[in-house]
Amino acid sequence: MKKVLISGGNSGIGLEAGRQLVAQGHQVVLIGRDPAKGRAAVEGLGGSAKAEFLTADLATHAGVRAAADQVLSKHPRLDALLLGAGVLTLKDSRTADDLNPVFAVNYLSRYHLAQRLLPAVRGTPAGKVVLLVAGVPLDTAIDFSVFPKFRPFPGMRSLSSVQIANYHYIAHLARAEKDLAAAVVNVGLVKTGIMRDMPLAMRVAFAVLGPVMTIPVECAAANPVHLCTTDGWPSGSYWAKPGQSGQITPLRLDAGVTDKVIAVSRELTGA
Ligand SMILES: NC(=O)c1ccc[n+]([C@@H]2O[C@H](COP(=O)([O-])OP(=O)(O)OC[C@H]3O[C@@H](n4cnc5c(N)ncnc54)[C@H](OP(=O)(O)O)[C@@H]3O)[C@@H](O)[C@H]2O)c1
Repeated sequence: MKKVLISGGNSGIGLEAGRQLVAQGHQVVLIGRDPAKGRAAVEGLGGSAKAEFLTADLATHAGVRAAADQVLSKHPRLDALLLGAGVLTLKDSRTADDLNPVFAVNYLSRYHLAQRLLPAVRGTPAGKVVLLVAGVPLDTAIDFSVFPKFRPFPGMRSLSSVQIANYHYIAHLARAEKDLAAAVVNVGLVKTGIMRDMPLAMRVAFAVLGPVMTIPVECAAANPVHLCTTDGWPSGSYWAKPGQSGQITPLRLDAGVTDKVIAVSRELTGA
């Protein structure tokens, strides 16, 4: 039986991953903002013997620190971190730390939370860190003239920078944490609530094209669940094809860019 922490575990792909893990006899600790959704998720997963929900706002440094403290005090050992909390917006809004919210949640919170929870996964044999992302080419560039503040806000181009930053963190972990296994997983296109803050035209297009373009949430969650529960896969890998556990790409990224992303992340979070 493994214990897996899932950020973004109270809905969508994270919740489905929780379902599959519990069905296989594992225990999950879910993190999300909405306690009502959290309670419903725990109930749906079979109650407190199998699942637990912790409320946290991962959009801020303080929120991540509080979440990590809470997790470590209750769960000093975790087999895997499955980090998928995410938002999708093209608005030029700012978090309490004066950051772009997509950058803050979909990248920085994963870096920050994982760094603070490393002692828990280092304490288990074959500990794992798995990040849920959108697939982008491995040579996706980061424009350091706007990264990480995204000022001036580059609109759509911010999204690919945020995604590839996740890949760089996994490449860093593979180098720095030889006893852990770290991976980034493309979840594909899935009909969840993730589009709720996008412009109306994009929501309409997604609703119309959804039936032909999207994959079932069960398929999106399959690789993340496989990675959290299976030993022996190569650390520092990218799982590009949802539902196909044989398609593994080694993360060969520019080490200089990885170092820059990590330096920026350290400076912002202190972790
Ligand atoms: N669906 C797709 O087609 C797709 C495609 C590419 C990548 N992804 C990525 O896959 C991941 C899962 O998305 P999904 O499709 O399952 O969407 P979803 O159903 O909207 O789930 C997003 C999750 O993130 C949590 N979250 C958002 N902001 C948070 C914050 N500030 N603090 C704590 N938790 C927060 C939400 O919790 P609350 O509801 O409590 O806020 C929710 O559990 C996301 O990172 C998303 O970017 C999805």
